[in-house]
Amino acid sequence: MKELAGKKILLGITGGIAAYKSAVLCRELMRLGAEVRVIMTAAATQFITPLTLQALSGHPVHSDLFAAENEDAMGHIELARWADRILIAPASAQTISKLAHGEADNLLTTTGLASDASLMIAPAMNNVMWRDVATQENIKLLRARDVLILGPASGDQACGETGPGRMLEADEISEYVLQQFQAQSLKGKRVIVTAGPTWEAIDPVRGLTNHSSGKMGYALAGALHDAGANVTLISGPTALHPPRSVPCIHITSAQEMSDAVMENITGCDIFVAVAAVADYRPVSSTEQKIKKTAETLTLKLVRNPDILAMVAALEKPPFTVGFAAETENLIDHAKEKLAAKKIDLIAANPVSGDNSAFNSESNELSLIDSNGITHLGRCSKSILAHKLTKEIVRRYYETHPTKDT
Ligand code: CTP
Repeated sequence: MKELAGKKILLGITGGIAAYKSAVLCRELMRLGAEVRVIMTAAATQFITPLTLQALSGHPVHSDLFAAENEDAMGHIELARWADRILIAPASAQTISKLAHGEADNLLTTTGLASDASLMIAPAMNNVMWRDVATQENIKLLRARDVLILGPASGDQACGETGPGRMLEADEISEYVLQQFQAQSLKGKRVIVTAGPTWEAIDPVRGLTNHSSGKMGYALAGALHDAGANVTLISGPTALHPPRSVPCIHITSAQEMSDAVMENITGCDIFVAVAAVADYRPVSSTEQKIKKTAETLTLKLVRNPDILAMVAALEKPPFTVGFAAETENLIDHAKEKLAAKKIDLIAANPVSGDNSAFNSESNELSLIDSNGITHLGRCSKSILAHKLTKEIVRRYYETHPTKDT
């Protein structure tokens, strides 16, 4: 299916070794039906030839701000007006800095400044450069202006180091582009997402918790927001920033999460429980730090409320989606939870061994509902969140066939 048919994408390529991936990206966007025009900076042409991009896009590549022939064909103002979206991949630290400060000293930055089209950038650089305060400040400025920052990914780098700064792969970038053009299928719908771990206090300094990073829940809240939903995130303690424009209620314990959910559940259309909620809490938590006196210490625990089951048992429940975090018998245990909690859909993910979803950048999910199983293969949590959103939207409207968007 040509999901990008009729869409005009201006692909900007800057100087960096990741520029070789831009050729695949150009092809992928064209395969999806997009019309692609390419601007390369002078540095980019040191890494990949304009001829390659010309052959792939079917159009001359633009790189010189003052080229007379460019102004005859399609000058920078015309290119700026032509584009539905501007995608810069790879975006070097230097180009990011120029964009952040409104510098227009080459064809790409000039066109960016002259265009109303929304801008997406896929940074690619050495991890120390990415972490540098200057780069991070520039990224913050761009984010505040609604520039979509795609990645970067973490991992082995061409320079031999390891860390954040790798450009996302072409298929991941094109998934983001697709999602940018997707209809706002959840416009007007209220969605609550729980995320992260909970912390059950034993005393003022110790507690029971788990390895959940919150990344999957936060990514899903962002993807549901991208689909037009009015999302509220209810999160346990994590090191993450909530997605832009998504209000977040920060809680600590399972009981607090349960209270926050119940206070906000009225009028909610879709409830997604991604949180790794502690099933038990200490019967009581001491006011002062427990001192090391006895040889053994017994903690007495009491059951926490099952938030997801409570929501599903409401008189008029929202469409309910649960996650099953399992270390063994993934599918069987997930099916049992689907039935026991009487929910609409469950996403099963492994949380042990090499494929553990906890504290990982990537994940894979098996979706189970009354119609069977759908597998969503391993990919970044952000891409997976968009794929899962599509699956939730489809099933939601199958059971609530009053789609008014
Ligand atoms: N869940 C919840 N409240 C709880 C426990 C779990 O809302 N007190 C939700 C989770 O957010 C998840 C689903 O229920 O969506 C399944 O959670 P999981 O921890 O996998 O299963 P449990 O129901 O806790 O069962 P068990 O620990 O025995 O596997």
